[in-house]
Amino acid sequence: MEPATDMTDWLVERLGRSRGLTILTGSGVSHESGVPTFRGKDAFWEKHRVEELATWQAFEAHPELVWRWYDYRRRGVAEAQPNGAHFAIARLEPAFDAFVLITQNVDGLHRRAGSTDPLELHGNIWRARCTREHTTTDLLDCPLRELPPRCEKCGALLRPDVVWFGEPLPPDEYERAYEAARNCDAMLVVGTSAMVRPAASLPLVAKHNGAMVVEINVSFTPISALIDATLLGRAGDILPELADRVLALGATGAARAPSRVHVR
Ligand code: APR
Repeated sequence: MEPATDMTDWLVERLGRSRGLTILTGSGVSHESGVPTFRGKDAFWEKHRVEELATWQAFEAHPELVWRWYDYRRRGVAEAQPNGAHFAIARLEPAFDAFVLITQNVDGLHRRAGSTDPLELHGNIWRARCTREHTTTDLLDCPLRELPPRCEKCGALLRPDVVWFGEPLPPDEYERAYEAARNCDAMLVVGTSAMVRPAASLPLVAKHNGAMVVEINVSFTPISALIDATLLGRAGDILPELADRVLALGATGAARAPSRVHVR
């Protein structure tokens, strides 16, 4: 195993030659902002497994309980600040002809850090959807004034506009994410356990289509053996340095190879 510094040198050099970069993030990116992840020691809220709360069945049976959990999470996210990893990703965006940020996170911290168009595959915790009319609306009051909140138009229950287990991803976002994985020269997979599909299959789509795929995580994941490299460490430590060095290349006008991505 090459020392991290060599690996980072190699990655900087490869990113410096890439025109199309796609980044896939998970809750590990927000962990340093104090937002809990979903597995390991964060797998429970009060005495409930979060994976059981994040289902339509739990909501149908206990709408107030599920909303109490989302109110708790929203309050945590409202107090949180984007960290160095979020800002580094936003800084990398303009440096590539084709840049796509795909996130599984529903916390909105990427946008708060300046990312212009994150593909929110699993929805957003600051939006709600009417369970009768299926219209979505921003729901920004924190803490929630009403538990469970109701649709202002028809009075039906609102649900968080997020993707729960057993539910399909929003088709447009997933199709754009799939195309971004299929067409990129390089993909960074940051702070995700790569356990939840179909998001977890995107790095393999990229790899299968010839892209260089590197993950940044504090531990190995089920895809580590299937991709090019794993940089072990905290995203908030590794990404700012990586962004500095890649952007410094840009500043030096280091030549980039013609891309597979049809740039503007
Ligand atoms: N830097 C980098 N990686 C980190 C850090 C950090 N500071 N802290 C934790 N990690 C890694 C963990 O090692 C783990 O691999 O982040 C990952 C978090 O994994 P999960 O908790 O499984 O979260 P995620 O991969 O985002 O879950 C996917 O599952 O519960 C659903 O819808 C939910 O979007 C979520 C999806």
